[in-house]
Amino acid sequence: MNDKRQAANAMWGGRFASGPDAIMEAINASIGFDKRLHRQDIEGSRAHAAMLAATGILTDKDAEAIREGLLTILSEIEAGKFAFSTALEDIHMNVESRLRELIGEAAGRLHTARSRNDQVALDFRMWVREQADAAIEGLGALMRALLAQAEAGADWVMPGFTHLQVAQPVTWGHHMLAYVEMFARDRARFVDARARMNECPLGAAALAGTSFPIDRHMTAEALGFDRPAANSLDAVADRDFALEFLSAAAICAMHLSRLAEELVIWSSAQFRFVTLSDRFSTGSSIMPQKKNPDAAELIRAKIGRIMGAMVGLFTVMKGLPLAYSKDMQEDKEQVFDAADSLALALAAMTGMVADMSANREVLEAAAATGFSTATDLADWLVRVAGLPFREAHHVTGRLVAMAEEKGCDLADLSLAEMQSVHDAIDESVYDVLGVHNSVASRTSFGGTAPEQVRAQIARWKEALS
Ligand code: ARG
Repeated sequence: MNDKRQAANAMWGGRFASGPDAIMEAINASIGFDKRLHRQDIEGSRAHAAMLAATGILTDKDAEAIREGLLTILSEIEAGKFAFSTALEDIHMNVESRLRELIGEAAGRLHTARSRNDQVALDFRMWVREQADAAIEGLGALMRALLAQAEAGADWVMPGFTHLQVAQPVTWGHHMLAYVEMFARDRARFVDARARMNECPLGAAALAGTSFPIDRHMTAEALGFDRPAANSLDAVADRDFALEFLSAAAICAMHLSRLAEELVIWSSAQFRFVTLSDRFSTGSSIMPQKKNPDAAELIRAKIGRIMGAMVGLFTVMKGLPLAYSKDMQEDKEQVFDAADSLALALAAMTGMVADMSANREVLEAAAATGFSTATDLADWLVRVAGLPFREAHHVTGRLVAMAEEKGCDLADLSLAEMQSVHDAIDESVYDVLGVHNSVASRTSFGGTAPEQVRAQIARWKEALS
């Protein structure tokens, strides 16, 4: 390695009398992290070499030697037998240098009509594309787990909250489906970003294109892109694809954190709405009775690093003149970390949701607390007694105050007590005071009534099958 440093870099050192300072080498090198792009780098090089041969820029013999050499390098890296060198800066030059050791002079022809600028844009784009695919799949699995929960308890009642104060009864199925909707939008964002990023930068070369008669459509197709990127400057300078991925990831992480927070609250001794499985909980080293929702807490926290990555990359890209600048080497680590964090959070959440059990009786008992059917009473006064809603609201408020004073629920007030507040109230009011009646009455489209919930479940089952 020292020999490699003292000499000027063999890949670009023609005009250099000496090698870089050690500090220069340390700040310049990206191999420590961009080795993660090795598979994409080799795949891109193989497609490039095949295209160079097909267009007559390279002999078939050289192209074949390059192909063989690249495959050998891939297996060396995957077997952990590849010696990465910091002096060789990045994955692109590490691979090319090893190729020269393996096949000699032909290796030097691989970089014809190409630059590291389009090479890195290609590798990174393919890597992010794979991560978008993984997120799409991970979100599908999570949605299916939530859907199974929704189906099991489509008509179980629980308190619905606003301000984390009991508001109106809702169904468990309805609450689960709320997250299915959120994660479906997240998934659509990844699908959308993936479609937009699917243009191939290879062949943009350093920034201006190339004088060689390359076939960019051929490489684009071979690498699974819809088309080659139409502007060579944009192709090497664009990192929108990573920013879109991070933005979609940040929104998804935000949704995950909300669900995680609910699981933390719901699994507490004060709520006991759900029991998390041992598989996704931990114990305390000092308090033997504890079962902590660590996975949920960590998922709740992941948004910190994912949003950090998004803000970080926006800040790196802001104000950069066209086309490539070395600043853009700082694009990778944060995206790698964000993608890893998201994948792990999605997998952990899916496992946790699939394993958890909702405590039906606890949910139902809680649903009736906090005068949760007060709105039903007000609606009844409007519908049956013909009161204007504002007056009905006021009358109900007085009944709630009465019940609160007596320390009982609305349904426990006698008819005489109710009539002392408004004489239009009759026996049939008790029908709407039960939590089951309350949810069953909310039949508006998208409402919490079990029949509505079952219709939505059917729609999602079809969409997710
Ligand atoms: N390691 C570089 C990166 O990650 C590759 C491109 C370098 N290009 C250049 N002209 N120095 O961005």
